Amino acid sequence: MATIIDGKKVAEEVLAECAGEIAELKEAGITPGLAVVLVGEDPASQVYVNSKVRKCAELGIHSEKIVLSKEATQEEVLETVQRLNADPAIHGILVQSPPPPQIHEEEIVRAIEPAKDVDGFHPENVAKLALEDSTGFVPCTPAGCMRLLKAAGVETSGAEAVVVGRSMIVGKPMALLLMARGSDATVTVAHSRTKDLAAVCRRADIIVAAVGIAEFIGADFVKEGATIIDVGINRVEDASAKRGYRLCGDVAFDEVLEKAGAVTPVPGGVGPMTIAMLMKNTIKAAKALG
Ligand code: GUN
Repeated sequence: MATIIDGKKVAEEVLAECAGEIAELKEAGITPGLAVVLVGEDPASQVYVNSKVRKCAELGIHSEKIVLSKEATQEEVLETVQRLNADPAIHGILVQSPPPPQIHEEEIVRAIEPAKDVDGFHPENVAKLALEDSTGFVPCTPAGCMRLLKAAGVETSGAEAVVVGRSMIVGKPMALLLMARGSDATVTVAHSRTKDLAAVCRRADIIVAAVGIAEFIGADFVKEGATIIDVGINRVEDASAKRGYRLCGDVAFDEVLEKAGAVTPVPGGVGPMTIAMLMKNTIKAAKALG
């Protein structure tokens, strides 16, 4: 029976660190500020944006939530980013992904001042991650996964890690973090074209699942005793649930629990960590920018 890795508890530890750092910044006359931009009405994005703003309020971080209509033009979003780049009260800028189809997300990301890019999506920060230059911003979700591995006492050095998914938000930065000096894992990045994915995953001491398919990683993907980090958040129809759906990860939790050594739940695993690491990045930005 696997240990369940408690993401809420580890996130609380990170947030307690944040509270101390915020107090120090405020003594120096600096209130960290985060701007969250939501374009359109995607229901999941609305939930994420609101929880980010709520967490800022709890911690005493100044936040600004900017909601643009689902018909917003590229120019409107760019102008918003430029205004926030120039605003000294804002240290971190985040444009929630995915935007509506008329928006060219790459151009928006490149318009964010790299020193305020708390998502770590700007090419300058991506390069710094690859170069192991610690002055950059690491994307929040993979940073949270690394912190969970550490908190759970999982040995990454020399471990076989399989990252399932190659997105810029999770898969690629996760692979870079796992292989970096100090983590020292041997990393395989698998994706939708990978042959015999279950066999590839069965080699892994650590699986990071970021495929976006509900309960895709079953027990037959898992080596006895492996650590499973589940990045997925999927809505599955469930007539017996109050909202008409339930949340589940990319991992078939119940069957994997029998075989794995440790596994993160959904909800209550990676999700709370992502927000906690965003708060960390915002504080890091405020320290650097003043
Ligand atoms: N959508 C899903 N995850 C993220 C994230 O970490 N940052 C942003 N901006 N959008 C997301």
